[in-house]
Amino acid sequence: MKPLLEISNVSRRFGGLLAVDSVSFDVAEGEIVGVVGPNGAGKSTLFGIVCGDIRPGSGEVRLAGARLTGLSSDRIARNGLVRTFQTPRPFTSMTFLGNVVVAALARTGDTAEAKRRAERALDRVGLLGFRDAPASGASTGQRKRLDIARAIATEPRVLLLDEPLGGVDPGSIDEILALLQRLREDGMTLVVIEHNLEALVRLADRFVAMALGRKLAEGAPREVMRDPRLVDAYLGGEGHEAA
Ligand SMILES: Nc1ncnc2c1ncn2[C@@H]1O[C@H](COP(=O)(O)OP(=O)(O)OP(=O)(O)O)[C@@H](O)[C@H]1O
Ligand SMILES: [Mg+2]
Repeated sequence: MKPLLEISNVSRRFGGLLAVDSVSFDVAEGEIVGVVGPNGAGKSTLFGIVCGDIRPGSGEVRLAGARLTGLSSDRIARNGLVRTFQTPRPFTSMTFLGNVVVAALARTGDTAEAKRRAERALDRVGLLGFRDAPASGASTGQRKRLDIARAIATEPRVLLLDEPLGGVDPGSIDEILALLQRLREDGMTLVVIEHNLEALVRLADRFVAMALGRKLAEGAPREVMRDPRLVDAYLGGEGHEAA
């Protein structure tokens, strides 16, 4: 079967730094792929490229065979691919619900329907009780959940999650993992960046490991975790080659 998401030879340079260096991998429909690697590996930059926030210097991304590269992130969201942020920045002047309604409106022009979708999304992430609270008061963990609610309110086919467990209190980790499993059961395809490898191993079908902009390894999560190249990268075994 043809992969749902195809990332082909994607590169992006920031000045002298090759932040993403010819990275390719595919994601099948219904799969959960974990993206791992040390700080600065290029993981978030790769997400930015896939969702249309960052233009790649070269390479292309396809969703269900259709080229996404060059489209705006709004257009890509309408095509069914959205991301969450490593550091979510909700509209602090709005309520929790208001933030999610704004996101839902990207997919439907019907305000009543957007509100229903937003309430459903808040409920799924366990924040419905906060619907009328100002987002300015959201804790780090609540911001992460709120950002997931914003993303799923657009009813995507593919959801990219950038460190969904980062800053979440340890007691809530299992809850978020269960939420992500339910999203997959509902037919969503997930790509998840996460530093909590123990948690990610329980969630993902496959790992893609990155370091210094390059893809190092790809395969079964436990095998990739044992890959000496990844172990070296985490230990800072090689210096960054600025070009
Ligand atoms: N807008 C930018 N301008 C210049 N350099 C950038 C920019 N965005 C990222 N970088 C650099 O590109 C490299 C990759 O960054 P990126 O944020 O993609 O890494 P990451 O794998 O997500 O790391 P982390 O695990 O710390 O989030 C880093 O060296 C970073 O400093
Ligand atoms: Mg990052």
